[in-house]
Amino acid sequence: MTGEARGDSLSYSARLPFEEARAGAVSRLPDLSGRGRDAAGKELLMCGIVGYTGQRQASRILVEGLKRLEYRGYDSAGIAVRKDETVKEGEAPLLVIKKKGKIAELRKAVPKDLPGNYGIGHTRWATHGGVTDVNAHPHLDTAGRVAIVHNGIIENYAPLKEMLENDGAVFASDTDSEVIAHLVAYHYEGDLESAVKAALRHLKGTYGIAAVHADEPGRIVGARNGSPLVIGVGDGEMLLASDVTALLAHTTSVVYLNDGEVVSMSPREFRISDRDDRAVDPKIDLVTWKLDAIEKEGFSSYMEKEICEQPESIARALSGRMDLEYGSAKLGGLELSKKELHAIERIRVIAAGTSWHAGLVGCQLMESVARLPAQAELASELRYRNPVVEPNSLYLAVSQSGETADTLYAMREIQRRGGSVLGVCNVVGSTIARESDGGIYVHSGPEIAVASTKAFTSQLAAFYLLTLSLARLHDMSHHEGDRFLKELKAVPEAVGRSLLLRDRIQAIAKRYAHHRDFLFLGRGLLYPIALEGALKLKEISYIHAEGYASGEIKHGPIALVSPETPSVFLVPNDHLREKTISNMREIKARGGPIIALAEEGDEDVAAIADEFIPVPAVETRFQPFVMVPPLQFFSYFCALERGCDVDQPRNLAKSVTVE
Ligand code: G6P
Repeated sequence: MTGEARGDSLSYSARLPFEEARAGAVSRLPDLSGRGRDAAGKELLMCGIVGYTGQRQASRILVEGLKRLEYRGYDSAGIAVRKDETVKEGEAPLLVIKKKGKIAELRKAVPKDLPGNYGIGHTRWATHGGVTDVNAHPHLDTAGRVAIVHNGIIENYAPLKEMLENDGAVFASDTDSEVIAHLVAYHYEGDLESAVKAALRHLKGTYGIAAVHADEPGRIVGARNGSPLVIGVGDGEMLLASDVTALLAHTTSVVYLNDGEVVSMSPREFRISDRDDRAVDPKIDLVTWKLDAIEKEGFSSYMEKEICEQPESIARALSGRMDLEYGSAKLGGLELSKKELHAIERIRVIAAGTSWHAGLVGCQLMESVARLPAQAELASELRYRNPVVEPNSLYLAVSQSGETADTLYAMREIQRRGGSVLGVCNVVGSTIARESDGGIYVHSGPEIAVASTKAFTSQLAAFYLLTLSLARLHDMSHHEGDRFLKELKAVPEAVGRSLLLRDRIQAIAKRYAHHRDFLFLGRGLLYPIALEGALKLKEISYIHAEGYASGEIKHGPIALVSPETPSVFLVPNDHLREKTISNMREIKARGGPIIALAEEGDEDVAAIADEFIPVPAVETRFQPFVMVPPLQFFSYFCALERGCDVDQPRNLAKSVTVE
């Protein structure tokens, strides 16, 4: 998949082997990259990088950029800028300001008139390892002439640190990242790019890095191996970031770095090379996301905004892809001919979290509608199994961010075994999008809140389109295709109506938010939606919730039922409705409170349930679309009721780039 405006003409992109990042000449320090990981290697970091070089005040642009990356989750942040061109004898030329806590803390600490027109910044997110000012990035070498920021994990940092300390380096922090600053200083002989390349040869692990040196004003060197970096090409200025959202306010012309590549940039030029110093031709992509798409626009949180945007985001995912003439779907980015599509015998989805839930819906659909055996797998499981990659199987790597490490590594494992993998991604130019063998962009627009909402329904839309396209190659008639399309076309409007339930759901959430445990129950296509409802509640309101297939409650979960444990039922409007109603009665008989979502006008359900949420009437197979927004609102309002931070829930990160 390569970046483009609509996603219909995605093309296969050249792939840099992951191992390439490990190649390189021997340097003066022994190469310890083969040594095993240690305690710090288990540290989880999901961080953000920003770099700026140009004519403007760097500190302001860096802090603003970090603010844009806030949504990725972080616990501390910092910047490094060159103080002044005229640095007094004995004074450190690079000024580093770093603070634990929110960007607001950093902003307070940065003087408004801080000089310097190049620098780097970082947001750090750690689940273990000290959250302190000192451990925040940037890190300096002993002389304070090199500053680096790093995303990822340096697995062999301990022996490197020991060696550098023996060589006289003085470490200030407990982080693995700091070794990079000392390694760059160790190798520095007047050229930052060469020093960074030499330093990289020692490293084992994953990284996105940006480095500056006090002796090279205006120069920033960046490198990537497994952690995204994108260059922003401006007018007389260059930027570097781990995420395009940090660049959007300044430029829409971007270049995505591949694993194993190093960029050296100054205000008017940049050069990309691999670590063996072969020049790489840059491909400039235009980002179509608008700045207002990453603003809250009057909403109190990104999550609320993103829930409310779903009618438009689903419409975008469908736009230009409904083939009304043939009652089918047009998905040009798949890069597969009709013949190749026809030859597919089974589908496998690999994904994590909410994307996996979309995959579960997609697989049920593809099996029941397109009559293809389909299975959704957790990427974190698949990558450590020894999977059989059967011929004529199509793998789909589903990922909002396109950067989830588990999904990416699972995809690479399948490709290594000769399987072809299509990406179903939201972020254009993301690693999964670029390394997949074609795919579908879901076009939900930037999703900033950590808990995924609009990307989920856009992923569903992509699966419905793919199902239609496959079904029309097999048993589905033109007439049935037309009907399916008609229903699909009506989805954005139906989702709009389900959003009108907001106030009713807020009132219910007020009454139930104090409960400690919930069950979410659904059947068929609504079973994955029950899982998603439970996940949302866990993620943002920290309430324990179990998602279960309604038919399974009698095999265990029913033991949990009590007046203290409400059950949220998703009632389908087909032949499974009666069975679900029986399940509701079983819960009711045991004193369990019931919140039921069912088609509007379903008096039977309304009579049994303690709380009834009437969702718009749509054909059964489209019910996932109208059931999910009320569940998103439910978790959202429960979280507000409990005083939780809905956009940045504790311990979670938007894109999990480590295993
Ligand atoms: C993280 C996020 C989840 C997301 C999952 C998969 O855990 O917090 O919201 O569903 O990653 O992310 P992806 O970007 O691959 O869809």
